[in-house]
Formats: sequence, C-alpha cells, structure tokens
Amino acid sequence: MALNRALILLGPPGAGKGTQSKKVAQRCGVPHLSTGDMFRDAVTRDLPLGRIARPIMERGELVPDELVMKMVEERLSRPDCAGGFVFDGFPRTQPQAEQLDKILEARGFGKPQVVDFCVSPDELVKRISGRRVCSVGGEIYNIHEAPPKVPGICDRDGGKLVQRADDQPEVVKERLVAYERQTKPLTEYYRRNGVLDVLDAGAPVEDVSRALEKLVKCS
Ligand code: AP5
Repeated sequence: MALNRALILLGPPGAGKGTQSKKVAQRCGVPHLSTGDMFRDAVTRDLPLGRIARPIMERGELVPDELVMKMVEERLSRPDCAGGFVFDGFPRTQPQAEQLDKILEARGFGKPQVVDFCVSPDELVKRISGRRVCSVGGEIYNIHEAPPKVPGICDRDGGKLVQRADDQPEVVKERLVAYERQTKPLTEYYRRNGVLDVLDAGAPVEDVSRALEKLVKCS
C-alpha cells in the first residue's frame, strides 16, 4: 500500500486533523508528518529548535517559515517518504504552500491532495478543552467524546494523559486568530489549483473516517 502523493489535511486547531491523519497514514502505509508533533518533540528533548519554538508555541503564534521548511525538507529526504506521506498541520502559510509545491515537483510527486476539515467554532472549543494526549506515545483522547478506559491513563501504553500546554483558553484564542489570518487563505490557493476537497468534520470520529476513506484512495 502507498499513496504516491502528498495528502494535506487542512483545518483549524481542534478540527480532528491529528486523529484522522494517523488513521489514513496507517491505512495507506505511509508516514504521518505532523509539524506540531515535531516541534513538541524538539521542545521535550530541549533541542536548539525546541528552544526557539517553545515560546512561540506558548503564545499561540506560528513558528517562522524558514525553520518549518528546513525541518520538513529534512524529514522528506528520509527513505520512508518515497511512497507518499500525510501532512497534519502543514503547510500553514502561503510561502510554506508555495515552497512545498516546488519540493514535491523536485521529488517527482504530482500535485498534493488537500482535504479541508470544516468544524463550527463552538465544537472546536469543546474538542480542544476535552483533549488529553498520552505523554508516552502521543495517542489522542477526549474526556467527552473518546475517553480512555481508565481516567488519566493511556489504553495503549499506560502513559499518563496530559493537557497540551497550548490548549489553555487564552492560547487557543490566539491559535484561532493565527489560523484565520495565515492558514485559512490556503483553502483559496488550493481551490484555484483544483486540488481541494471540503469535508464536514463536525460529525463523530467514525463518520469522519468513513467520509475521508471515500475521498482518499490508497494506491
Ligand atoms: P499543531 O500541533 O499542528 O496544532 P493545530 O493545527 O492547532 O491542531 P490541533 O493539534 O490542535 O488539532 P487537530 O486538528 O489535530 O485535532 P485533534 O485530532 O487533536 O500545532 C501546534 C503549534 O505548533 C502551532 O500553534 C504552531 O505554533 C506550531 N506549528 C505547527 N506546525 C506549524 C507550521 N506548519 N508552521 C508554523 N508553526 C507551526 O482533535 C482535537 C480533539 O477533538 C481531541 O480530543 C480528539 O479526540 C477530538 N476529536 C477529534 N475528532 C473528533 C470528532 N470527529 N468528534 C468529536 N471529537 C473529536
């Protein structure tokens, strides 16, 4: 199984991109590339990149394009990306999207497939406030919609479930502003390029997965 292209899941914070991109990447046997996870990993390991990204993420702003692109290019050069990949949280600005197009062309991939996750603002806030993440394996839960069997403990590896530092209400507000200003315009960019599919992602997880399966075929 492969994808033989880049799949981009676009959408605001809390729309369910992480939840669904892991599933589709597993289904098609390609890597799930979350720039947010990569930055959080660099922060946890106290790498130089993490020291730069940490205060920016804590304010709910976007990390500068040059740092994002350097990290993504390095990741795409690894052999596991040869059969395609699923982007979660990337690209997020017009320069990132334009640079990605050039990288894809240089690597012999065609145009990306882009799915825009649409969810109402009230539902986004509800999802983010209930999100808990496994501190060991990164598994995503929701105390309202997808709780673990034992409260506070990951079903998969027994890790402690924690709330993301940027899921505090004041930071979420800033992340939503950054999304509206810098990322939402990408829907128009990809629509003009003829590669945009729009998905009603306000439905329950399994319904969204089924709808995504119809849109995204593995090769
Ligand atoms: P990032 O980690 O990418 O966060 P985000 O885009 O804000 O998205 P989230 O992870 O908050 O939400 P999601 O859509 O993945 O939802 P999830 O599946 O978890 O970025 C974090 C920061 O890193 C940025 O602010 C920025 O600073 C930096 N950064 C990252 N990439 C960057 C880039 N390219 N450029 C510059 N800076 C960058 O679901 C949310 C909750 O809802 C969960 O609890 C889940 O269980 C639940 N849920 C999911 N689906 C459903 C459903 N269908 N019904 C009910 N509940 C659901």
